[in-house]
Amino acid sequence: MSQSEGLRDMSKPFFVPRIFSGFNLFLDEPQLLPDAVDLIARECRTKKAFIVTDEYAVRFAPKIMSPYQKRHGIKFEIWDKSQPDAPIDTVKECAKKMGQFKPDLIFAMGGGSSMDTAKGAWLLYEHPGIKLEILSPILPMNLRNKAKLVAIPTTSGTGSEVSGVAVISFPDGVKLPVSGALPEFVPDYALLDPTLTKGMPPELTAGTGGDALTHAVDGFMAPKSDEINQAIALKTIEMVFQWLPRAYKDGDDIMPRMKMQQAAMMAGIPLANAGSGISHALGHTIGGLFHIHHGAMVLLFLSYELQVYSKTTDRYLKICDMLCIRDKEDNEKSLLNLIEKIRSLMKELNLPVGLKNAGISRNDLENNLDMILEQTPTDPAFYFGWFDLTKDQLRDIFLNAYEGTLLNMKSELWR
Ligand SMILES: [Fe+2]
Repeated sequence: MSQSEGLRDMSKPFFVPRIFSGFNLFLDEPQLLPDAVDLIARECRTKKAFIVTDEYAVRFAPKIMSPYQKRHGIKFEIWDKSQPDAPIDTVKECAKKMGQFKPDLIFAMGGGSSMDTAKGAWLLYEHPGIKLEILSPILPMNLRNKAKLVAIPTTSGTGSEVSGVAVISFPDGVKLPVSGALPEFVPDYALLDPTLTKGMPPELTAGTGGDALTHAVDGFMAPKSDEINQAIALKTIEMVFQWLPRAYKDGDDIMPRMKMQQAAMMAGIPLANAGSGISHALGHTIGGLFHIHHGAMVLLFLSYELQVYSKTTDRYLKICDMLCIRDKEDNEKSLLNLIEKIRSLMKELNLPVGLKNAGISRNDLENNLDMILEQTPTDPAFYFGWFDLTKDQLRDIFLNAYEGTLLNMKSELWR
């Protein structure tokens, strides 16, 4: 990197919400010092707040609303119709209700889909008539003229509570990450109460935890990732390996729940500020087409991302160092050690290593391969990699991913 490039990098913005984590975020009694409730209530001058959630997480609404109602007289409207993958129709419906109620505070409560729905609806509320599908990613979104956003996650994976993207799905089955020139979708506040994630079923814990690990590795490896993002990403990777198996085995064990909630949030920070990775472009295409959990799919493609990036960068060695799996003599062996470590975790969590283990038939893959190869490069995450993959390279990844075999990086195609 030249000195001028280095200096230019220093002016990069770094967006994070104000983050509160713990068991005491929703207390009905005023505290000795101002707490999260006071700080957030101050943003609500109209005394009207709007909750975006789904039919599961709506059960937590009374707990969330209570201190704001009792201590600050805030009135709430609840909209609990968020759907998986945030279909555009539900986003529009949510925005319509927001427009009628006119809140100046929006609580996004739930998993990634509720947060994505809230973000999309928030943008439509601020700018009615805007078309999300043709929104330019290089223009500012100009949010926060009408409302601010508070994110309260009830799963631990998407990092949406700190990320600057909303993934919205459109009628043709395409999932589109929506964002602007700056990560303006990064919420103003993130409230992490681990008790809200208790009872998540093991499959969801595994899938969302896999998503968090992938965000952390993507965020660590991304070309734009600087020291701040790498520091957070590296610690997050360590935390996921340490705590995810325990959270998976016993959903009521509150310590692993808390650690995974924090890890998922931390992984979202480099995602917002350094970018995603090709794991997400590949995973979005297959996951969207065959309706497979996002986290399971992106984690499946993480091994391939690491192989592909290793052509250009040896930054993965720092992850190997941290996990004490580096072979000092042999970088290639270190890379394989890292992939093996990730795949062992996947097996422990009963996540598929190959697409054939994810319920996809060879015929299904081959019949859709042309479309898959067309669609993958249209995903913005495709361009967060170190270089653009050719169609033949993409095909090689998808066919290997079917079996779960690794790429032959010595072959003509990858040299
Ligand atoms: Fe993700």
